[in-house]
Amino acid sequence: MSGSLVIVAGGSSGIGRGLLEACPWSDARRIDVSRRGAQGCEQLKLDLANPTSWPLVAEMFEREVGGFAGERVAFFHCAGTLTPIGFAGEMDPAAYARSVLLNSAAPQVLGAAFLRAAARSEARCHLVNVGSGAAKNVYAGWSAYCAGKAAADHWVRTAGLEQECRGGRVRLLSVAPGVVATAMQEEIRATPEGDFPDVGTFVDLHEGGILRQPAVVARELWALLDADLENGAVLDLRDA
Ligand SMILES: NC(=O)c1ccc[n+]([C@@H]2O[C@H](COP(=O)([O-])OP(=O)(O)OC[C@H]3O[C@@H](n4cnc5c(N)ncnc54)[C@H](OP(=O)(O)O)[C@@H]3O)[C@@H](O)[C@H]2O)c1
Repeated sequence: MSGSLVIVAGGSSGIGRGLLEACPWSDARRIDVSRRGAQGCEQLKLDLANPTSWPLVAEMFEREVGGFAGERVAFFHCAGTLTPIGFAGEMDPAAYARSVLLNSAAPQVLGAAFLRAAARSEARCHLVNVGSGAAKNVYAGWSAYCAGKAAADHWVRTAGLEQECRGGRVRLLSVAPGVVATAMQEEIRATPEGDFPDVGTFVDLHEGGILRQPAVVARELWALLDADLENGAVLDLRDA
């Protein structure tokens, strides 16, 4: 039996992949949940924008977290999307609904499933949502993304408080990583200004060479697990 367990939703690329690769727990079992699957770890290949996948993740949590006899568990929720970028009311309704389901609903539903399973384990458990400055800042073209990030932040605040009320074993955080060099930033820079008026700002940030590297962000996220933070804290790595 391994002493630690790491589960990453969205571990197949970018920040999530960085988190799996930078895992400082040398004995950890690592599980990715994404459509493509992360190399070098256990994979649960699912489309998290499809609600029929959520009970399958909950079953995995019950089996792996609920029955876990090791010391510590971390669940990082990184799965998120900007797609489709464009103004609300002007986009394909089915694509818009997928974005709402992935960005707003999945962090809450899967988060609750994790808490349910963690309550049966003796391990120290962490739930880290990868948030965004878009939870506070308004960007035309990102309505479902901005709203989803705001929802996930507030869910973490509330569920963190509830863990304190119950003396629960899970510590929750939501952490905005800054502007990070991943596929998501490539998608932003490739968007026409008509769909995303701020595109020039992100092109300038890239050309200025100031995007953060996923590996660096991943190390900073892992370090927060040992920090003395309020349960349900919402923070931005750029403020650290
Ligand atoms: N990059 C930035 O500047 C930045 C800034 C603020 C916040 N963030 C947040 O960081 C998190 C990770 O993004 P990233 O920048 O690392 O982008 P990324 O490289 O595009 O990674 C996105 C991850 O989410 C997964 N994902 C997307 N749609 C999914 C679906 N329908 N079902 C299952 N998994 C899905 C992807 O896996 P599959 O495609 O294999 O399914 C992938 O592993 C996101 O929540 C994002 O909002 C990023």
